Amino acid sequence: MTLFNATTASEPTSDSKNKALLTASKLNKTVQVGEQALSIIKDVDIYVNAGEFVVIMGKSGSGKSTLLGLLAALDYPDSGSVELADQTLSQLDEDALAVIRQRDMGFVFQSFHLLPTLTVAENIAFPLDVARRPNQARVNELIDAVDLGHRRDSLPNQLSGGEQQRTAVARALVSHPKIVFADEPTGNLDEQNANQVMQLLLDLRQQVGSALVVVTHDPALAEMADRVITMHDGRIVS
Ligand SMILES: Nc1ncnc2c1ncn2[C@@H]1O[C@H](COP(=O)(O)OP(=O)(O)OP(=O)(O)O)[C@@H](O)[C@H]1O
Ligand SMILES: [Mg+2]
Repeated sequence: MTLFNATTASEPTSDSKNKALLTASKLNKTVQVGEQALSIIKDVDIYVNAGEFVVIMGKSGSGKSTLLGLLAALDYPDSGSVELADQTLSQLDEDALAVIRQRDMGFVFQSFHLLPTLTVAENIAFPLDVARRPNQARVNELIDAVDLGHRRDSLPNQLSGGEQQRTAVARALVSHPKIVFADEPTGNLDEQNANQVMQLLLDLRQQVGSALVVVTHDPALAEMADRVITMHDGRIVS
């Protein structure tokens, strides 16, 4: 497993770009607001190396969530391309994208997004089950890692926010994804739970060797990142 080396990938050299796990080029996205087409992502180039921890910051409305959605192929750009491990995501149909999302990507959202009718154990097992690779031993390992053994049969609405997000973190990492996307994963948690969830996300991602892209307003988190990208008005400014 290639782990990120902080000394070699701090600059987007053409060399590191060639070897990047994820490369997005000239991304543009507009939305229709009444009569007007509003440009919300403007000519964005971005890369993420294998195993790298990248933080995206920027003020509210600068386009962070929109960009994350484009990188994760949850949304299509108007122009530009996203390549993950040599596959051009914008050229794939919805079925092929679904396979890549299940196999290669993990997701953590601010509002948890657990499946409400599934237990903790079933939510964590879900990515393995839909990929037809059930693995109860792996699920148990993750339940222990996020300290939810006593809650394994609980439904999401019986859990605290921190417990829900720990479940989501375990689910995101259970299938050893190449890359995990997180949009303000601690935004709905108090400080103690936020720290615990973030530490679990970082620890598990280190064990698995996944790259991690996190949108956050938390400067402490940015300090832990290999690289911080700042957005302003739909562009990357640093
Ligand atoms: N479907 C949409 N229709 C209209 N405008 C949209 C749509 N989606 C996003 N926008 C606008 O695009 C801009 C970027 O939104 P985005 O959610 O990406 O910002 P953000 O940086 O994630 O903000 P926050 O920190 O508040 O989450 C905002 O001005 C938003 O209002
Ligand atoms: Mg957002």
